[in-house]
Amino acid sequence: MLTAQEIRLMKSTGQKIAVTTAYDVAFASMAEIAGIDQILVGDSLANTMLGYKSTSEIGMNEMEIFTAAVCRGAPNTHVIADMPYKSDETPELALENARRLLRCGARSVKLEGAKVEVIRTLRENGIEVMGHLGLLPQTAKNFKQRGTTEKEAEQIFQEAKILEALGVYAFVLEHIPEELGKKITNAVSPVTIGIGAGSGTDGQVLVMHDLLGLHNKKIPPFAKKFANLFEEGVAGFRSYLKMVKD
Ligand code: KIV
Repeated sequence: MLTAQEIRLMKSTGQKIAVTTAYDVAFASMAEIAGIDQILVGDSLANTMLGYKSTSEIGMNEMEIFTAAVCRGAPNTHVIADMPYKSDETPELALENARRLLRCGARSVKLEGAKVEVIRTLRENGIEVMGHLGLLPQTAKNFKQRGTTEKEAEQIFQEAKILEALGVYAFVLEHIPEELGKKITNAVSPVTIGIGAGSGTDGQVLVMHDLLGLHNKKIPPFAKKFANLFEEGVAGFRSYLKMVKD
């Protein structure tokens, strides 16, 4: 299992880091067998697994159940657990909740935004943190690309420097221009994991349901489908249905 330190080292040796989300035993074990570097139990499970409209609709109880399942399915892979909306409202609450997720088997936690006191407290208590900048789905009013104006790009760049100073080992860069992703990646020591941030980041993350084609809805413009399990699933159910009816 890769430690946060080993993931940092991959940046210095120029190795790209492949991250996928997963939410249960079956898919976590597939990702582990495939050799995926890290699995993120994203709060995107609110949408992908539970059918809610927003990631802000789930809390710690759900995150604990799904994190524990993924850790059982991929016992040899570094699992990152997302801190759900408002679970990191204060440094004390964040520490308590991060510890709950680590007790489920996660090796690090991810949280959205440059929350200085929260991240400082987690780091002072030895917790490995992955940050998340750019588009922040928990609080976003729309899903447009971020960092498209000079002012916004500079703000994201400065937040990246703040996360570096706080000692995060990595951070996600979501839906920002490729140039900005590259500039940040070259300017900071933490690993940058892009989703819609171009090919210049240290690694990439995709939502499993988009990458495996587990739904029949439109995928974001920056995502890529590597399989079509939705169609395969429907075909499998149809074959079963036909056999029973016949
Ligand atoms: O919740 C999630 O799946 C995420 C990824 C989009 C990075 O935060």
